[in-house]
Amino acid sequence: MPASDALVEHARRAREYAVADYSHFKVGAALETSDGTVISGCNVENATYGLTVCAERVAMFKALSDGHRTFTRIAIVADTADPTPPCGACRQILWEFGGDLEVVLANLTDVKGTHRLKDLLPLPFDARLL
Ligand code: THU
Repeated sequence: MPASDALVEHARRAREYAVADYSHFKVGAALETSDGTVISGCNVENATYGLTVCAERVAMFKALSDGHRTFTRIAIVADTADPTPPCGACRQILWEFGGDLEVVLANLTDVKGTHRLKDLLPLPFDARLL
């Protein structure tokens, strides 16, 4: 597996902006649109703890609010030996707006794995069921 690709490098840079004063667990994400644009995000914590927003959702909400609607990949970076997969809430949001994204998990030096979102969120609830 390669140590990096351009999308992972974007996520590594975004991680540097993490607002993680409570957990000290910094995460970066980089979302690629179908036209190749990259939108990054970092986790944003706050004193109520519960209103924390993960890096993945920050990236997706930034992208949506800039008018992007179709996505291909997301890279997620943390400074851990084991990869940091998206939490359940993020999987739901990524599925709703990104569909079956390729999810690239990496740390500061290596790419640790690549997954399809459909495998991370089997039997999803989504608009087809409404
Ligand atoms: N976090 C993310 O930003 N993305 C993940 O995939 C896992 C967890 C954040 C939330 C919180 O700020 C910190 O990491 C510890 O849970």
